[in-house]
Amino acid sequence: MGVVHQSCPGYVSEPFATLVANRPDDDSYPAADFRTEWGPIFHRGRLDGTARVLVLGQDPATHETISRRILVGEAGQRLQGLLAKVGISESYVMLNVYLYSLYGQGGGNRQLKNQQIADYRNAWLDALLVNTEVTAVVALGDLATSAYTSWSTSRAPAASGLHLSSIRHPTYAEGAARGSGRPLAETTADQLANWNDHLPALAAHLTPEIAVDLTPYGTAWSAGDLAPIPERDLPPGTPAWWRDIASWAVRSGTDAQQKRATITVTVPKGARAWPPLKK
Ligand code: URA
Repeated sequence: MGVVHQSCPGYVSEPFATLVANRPDDDSYPAADFRTEWGPIFHRGRLDGTARVLVLGQDPATHETISRRILVGEAGQRLQGLLAKVGISESYVMLNVYLYSLYGQGGGNRQLKNQQIADYRNAWLDALLVNTEVTAVVALGDLATSAYTSWSTSRAPAASGLHLSSIRHPTYAEGAARGSGRPLAETTADQLANWNDHLPALAAHLTPEIAVDLTPYGTAWSAGDLAPIPERDLPPGTPAWWRDIASWAVRSGTDAQQKRATITVTVPKGARAWPPLKK
């Protein structure tokens, strides 16, 4: 026997088995606003009671769609690096505001009012935050903060014991640069300054599993700021390069229809173990 591999066991225990079995019908997620054709993606991390921090993200993208766990691509690796700074390597659980990837403009805010979606999200938040060992919540961006706040105002006793770090979304910088025309270097510096502001209070509300290193981020991403996704977070049998920094899944196609219908997966150069073609 060689290496002993770890993997995510999935939704084997209650209440998660029932939550997944009773997910909202597709018609509560309108296909005009969500890429429902790729199926729902529920979580990443510990569902066994060992999570100490809950991360609330926004919606899954290409890498998440293929790997069936959230926050796996670059956004997830930036976040994984932030968790490492505050001493957390594996004792986390992550949810998104939406089970499906958002499609088009405006749906993210519009669908915050969708009661069926909110009820289901709140059932997951109840399962992960009421009478559990979680002490802090990290909300990634405005949609996550709004969704968390609407849960916490209706669950005041449970929420009063939780620290909330409401930070810029891990890919805020790219979106802000696109939307405002400001240089990406500037919006990146803003994002990292915002993350620096939240690090000390977040660390103070967590019991670390690894050494805490609150060295502030610089004004640009540097190599050690991103961290790979742990093997035990993905379903059994997934290749190691799915957890790696190099991007491997993109939407492709010559028009919007084709692009919505296609995700191209490419094994990164560094993961090509096969012999090169003979010339
Ligand atoms: N991927 C996710 O699953 N959630 C995000 O918020 C961003 C990327």
